Amino acid sequence: MTDNATREPPRLMRVSDTELVARMPDGAAVPIHPIWLRERSEAPEAMDRTTGQRLHDPSDLPLDLSITDILDLGADRFEVRFSDHHAAVYDAARLAREIALPAGDHDLPPVRLWTGDLTDLPRFAWDAAADAATRRTWVEAFLEYGFVIFSGVPTTDRSVIRVGETFGHVRHTNFGDLFDVRSVPNANDLAYTAIELGAHTDNPYRTPVPGVQLLHCLINETTGGLSTLVDGLAVATALRERDPEAFAALTETPVRFRFQDPVTELVASAPPIELDVTGAIRGIHMSPRLDYVPLMAPDRLDAYYRARKVFDHMLRDPAFEIRFLLEDGDLVMFDNVRLLHGRTSFDPSEGLRHLQGCYIDIDGPRSLYRVLRRDTVA
Ligand SMILES: [Fe+2]
Repeated sequence: MTDNATREPPRLMRVSDTELVARMPDGAAVPIHPIWLRERSEAPEAMDRTTGQRLHDPSDLPLDLSITDILDLGADRFEVRFSDHHAAVYDAARLAREIALPAGDHDLPPVRLWTGDLTDLPRFAWDAAADAATRRTWVEAFLEYGFVIFSGVPTTDRSVIRVGETFGHVRHTNFGDLFDVRSVPNANDLAYTAIELGAHTDNPYRTPVPGVQLLHCLINETTGGLSTLVDGLAVATALRERDPEAFAALTETPVRFRFQDPVTELVASAPPIELDVTGAIRGIHMSPRLDYVPLMAPDRLDAYYRARKVFDHMLRDPAFEIRFLLEDGDLVMFDNVRLLHGRTSFDPSEGLRHLQGCYIDIDGPRSLYRVLRRDTVA
């Protein structure tokens, strides 16, 4: 979830017969490591051109590999010869673009953090036959905001699966490929009751957790049962600034999440705020009805419980939350790792409230975005 505004690429420069450097936009020169360059060789004996996959194991390259010669071929191309007698031609602009990529989900649209004052919701009219440009608009909005709302999705059984398949592969779980959300007696999950559900991420007890959730409203005759969304990334970012100690405690505590029913027992541990190797916030794991912290030293638990209280109260703060009524034919699709969701309570005696849901992996929309980017001009 790196905020990845377009950057000016560095320039690749030959500084001697045996040295290439990347001249960064700030003027710094970063030497190109010989192994870094050698393992990117696209020479026929080094890479399968059809798949783009390597034909050798780069761990077998000598650690003292060096560059023995660099020939400037013009047109921004260099031929590089290495001490293991390998030679390869490189496109400098292409390498520069790779060097410019920040770590993380680097080539996705920039994330737009949002709070409770978001009024211009990313809402679109569903069209099963939408062209590539329209689908690109949808998927870009989803990747930027972490959610989209479609209206006019046919209110027929399993329509949610068909929408899910537009964006990725539907994930089957012990709930099946599709789950019905309506109040039922003896429910095996509080989702299937009429009580209020606070902000949470779904299924933190799974490995991996479902990346994206879709919820489709087939019928809603109740006046309650508003859907709620919170941008967990925005809240965690605010917490990092306001209360760094609480933020740190939530990134360092492995919380255990568990689900069980007569035929299933799922357990996974995750910190409430997960960071990637760069220190950027990767995602949120938060389900106040399911979280159990292991017994740790009292001072660590003191820090964790204080941090959880601060974070959870921020997640419940209207300043961060949006609410909307899902009407018949509306479908909300949201990133279950970035966003938290919930609903207000409703009175089942008012009438029916029936949603159908499914999960897809986050890879689906990301891949679709990259494929559509190839074929469409923004
Ligand atoms: Fe949920």
